Amino acid sequence: MKTPIRVAVTGAAGQIGYSLVFRIASGSMFGPDQPVILHVIEIEPAMASLGGVVMELQDCAFPLLKGVTQTSSLEAGFKDVDWALLVGSVPRKAGMERKDLLGINGKIFIGQGQAIAKHAAPGVRVLVVGNPCNTNCLIAMNNARPVLPERWFAMTMLDQNRAVAQLAAKSGADTTAITNLAVWGNHSSTMYPDFRNARIGGKPATEVIRDEAWFTETFLPTVQQRGTAIIKARGLSSAASAANAVVDTVRNLTTPTRPGIWFSVSVCSDGSYGIEKGLIFSFPVRSDGQKWQIVQGVALDEFSRSKIVASESELKEEKALVSELIPK
Ligand code: NAD
Ligand code: LMR
Repeated sequence: MKTPIRVAVTGAAGQIGYSLVFRIASGSMFGPDQPVILHVIEIEPAMASLGGVVMELQDCAFPLLKGVTQTSSLEAGFKDVDWALLVGSVPRKAGMERKDLLGINGKIFIGQGQAIAKHAAPGVRVLVVGNPCNTNCLIAMNNARPVLPERWFAMTMLDQNRAVAQLAAKSGADTTAITNLAVWGNHSSTMYPDFRNARIGGKPATEVIRDEAWFTETFLPTVQQRGTAIIKARGLSSAASAANAVVDTVRNLTTPTRPGIWFSVSVCSDGSYGIEKGLIFSFPVRSDGQKWQIVQGVALDEFSRSKIVASESELKEEKALVSELIPK
């Protein structure tokens, strides 16, 4: 039997956590022959509720679940973990932008970054989900300096999935026929879901859907504002689809990407496409199952570039807002 993978989930008693931990324990994230040990982390007031989640995990009798550590201690929570999924944080309410959460959530990621650096397994990989996830990831990464920048990710896969679903619905194609849909930039209303390079059944999406106005006036705002639409409808932010995107992100990073395609994840910019180095920015990425790389040479016309630069500017502003949380 394979050695179990240790996976930490912060905020495990929350809305996303309640969906996510069962997907991990069932084998959806790491495959049907990979055992896992879960480290579920909560703040003190949520420990009783977390106890209930752990009882339910036990009651599933998952064959792959080889242990659960349930804790409010960051030391025990991140001890020897291979993956840290940082979900725990406050979600926005109607009328807020995600960056309005920086003042509440940003500081959480200082202690979590430090604890990951100190206690996690040497090869730990970290995916930040808690909003605003790009800048929270920036804070955590910079407070965990020995953990290499290539091990930090923020989630834009939900935005990719939303964009794919919109293209499938408009074209009548199956979701599996939609490929090469990169989300560039920030997980915010400035994100750019790049329809110009997307493909439907191998053809450019713009040749299959010959309606430029639909792309710019309907598709873009629908994807950019989907989180807001869900909060309005549910009174709560997306949870099951967010957990699903966490599973997709980790699978995308840990399995080889099919030839010719890419997926979206926010990573530490190395200056590709002129994006400021060190920002956590969503790019088209490929993985060989171990290492990932930003896809180079994706054609960007003036329209696309202007959208990408606008999202970069927003991330620079967010970085300036949290400068006191980032060690010099
Ligand atoms: P929720 O309020 O239902 O759950 C959050 C949980 O985190 C709570 O149980 C809370 O006790 C816990 N928590 C708070 N501070 C913590 C800390 N310091 N350490 C550990 N746990 C802590 O919220 P949710 O719906 O699960 O959303 C969680 C976060 O994910 C929010 O910030 C939300 O905006 C974000 N989100 C991001 C995406 C994305 O695509 N990146 C998608 C959906 C939601
Ligand atoms: C989402 O995209 O659904 C999440 O980031 C939650 C939100 O605040 O929109």
